[in-house]
Amino acid sequence: MWWKKDKDLVWHPYTSLVSERVPLAVKKAKGVYLYTEDGRKVIDAVSSWWVNILGHANLKIAKAIGKQAKKLEHVIFAGFTHQPAVALAERLLKRVVPSTHSKVFFSDNGSTAVEVGIKLGLQYWFNLGEERKRVIALDGAYHGDTFGTMSIGSPSVFNKPFQEKLYDVAFIPFPEREKEKNTFDAFRKELAKGDVALFVFEPLIQGTAGMRMYSPKVLDELLSIAAEYGVLCLSDEVMTGFGRTGKTLAIDYLKHKPDIIALSKGITGGFMPLGITTCAQKIERVFHDKDIYKTFYHGHSYTGNPLACAAANQSIDLLLDHKIQKKIAWIAQSHEHFKDVLKKYAFLKVRSLGTVFAIEIDNGTESSYFSNIRDKLYDFFLERDVLLRPLGNIVYIMPPYTINQKELDKIYLVIDEAMRVIERNEL
Ligand SMILES: Cc1ncc(COP(=O)(O)O)c(C=O)c1O
Repeated sequence: MWWKKDKDLVWHPYTSLVSERVPLAVKKAKGVYLYTEDGRKVIDAVSSWWVNILGHANLKIAKAIGKQAKKLEHVIFAGFTHQPAVALAERLLKRVVPSTHSKVFFSDNGSTAVEVGIKLGLQYWFNLGEERKRVIALDGAYHGDTFGTMSIGSPSVFNKPFQEKLYDVAFIPFPEREKEKNTFDAFRKELAKGDVALFVFEPLIQGTAGMRMYSPKVLDELLSIAAEYGVLCLSDEVMTGFGRTGKTLAIDYLKHKPDIIALSKGITGGFMPLGITTCAQKIERVFHDKDIYKTFYHGHSYTGNPLACAAANQSIDLLLDHKIQKKIAWIAQSHEHFKDVLKKYAFLKVRSLGTVFAIEIDNGTESSYFSNIRDKLYDFFLERDVLLRPLGNIVYIMPPYTINQKELDKIYLVIDEAMRVIERNEL
């Protein structure tokens, strides 16, 4: 039994080495289901950390990867190129990102996609010879686990051991409803200092902070203020991208468009690791220079991997097809109905946007990743064969878009059951 060796050999992400929990051994997956070695069939209600947007083991994506693997599995991406990468760049520029964007840079995960974006944003000013080096981010932000992205992440238990190695970032208040003015005022105050290079944000939903949502109107206003001060904007669409919020990108809800966009997670339908950073022509232009100090020196061994590009090309085509678009709209609608069902619980605050549904449980303690209710709920759901991974006291659903009525109803049902148990103080 191979999985018995896991505890001795494997270091799992975000997991204490003294954790008593035994990871579930997954034998195979199909659609929304994970099949475990001990014979269970678990609904993946969080799309495995938000990546499997089209469900597991999609045959078309598997085929596209297989076909590509027989032709060209990998090639160095400096000095060489290949059709799947060019096709993906064209697809992204024509059908996914704003028309002002003109170039696509490849990396291999969400953190690196954002990291590339930060570096492009900072080097833009370097190349122009302007002293703009500071970055502004939102309180509660999470953008990844590299040093660059940890710096623009709100100070937390995740990045505490490294705080002194992180660069200085100005965090402005998250735009809480009806307190947006505090955010705008703090933003202007920082921008007025004149040394700000870049404003980075998770558009409309801060995922890791607990699916905190804010309106397109507020974000539009932030982008418009940034433009007044000539500051670049980087939209981290790693979580929100590829249909999650009901539109292809969250920024599709906005009038103003960011200069840089980071993409990952859903881009390959969960098949291959891939990060993408796109930028507006305005940025690209500043790098058109023979001066070696003005070249963008960044790359990874797997940059532009053909298998990842082939997966992304197929996944994006499936995503943009009307069948999946209809499913996304249907999930959003179903979430609205479920909101009504949960109205009977006075201790809940419920919110949703597109396919993202979040419930904040007021159990008398601060909202936090380590809220004690988290582990109990995680177990409660898993015992009922539903994978939901609460962020502290926030339970959220982010299903694969291929989910059907029966499967979605099962998720709603176990959540309703859990809320009833909490109401009775029995969890
Ligand atoms: C908004 C956002 N940005 C960046 C990342 C980092 O992505 P990755 O885990 O692929 O490095 C995440 C991961 O959850 C995220 O939610």
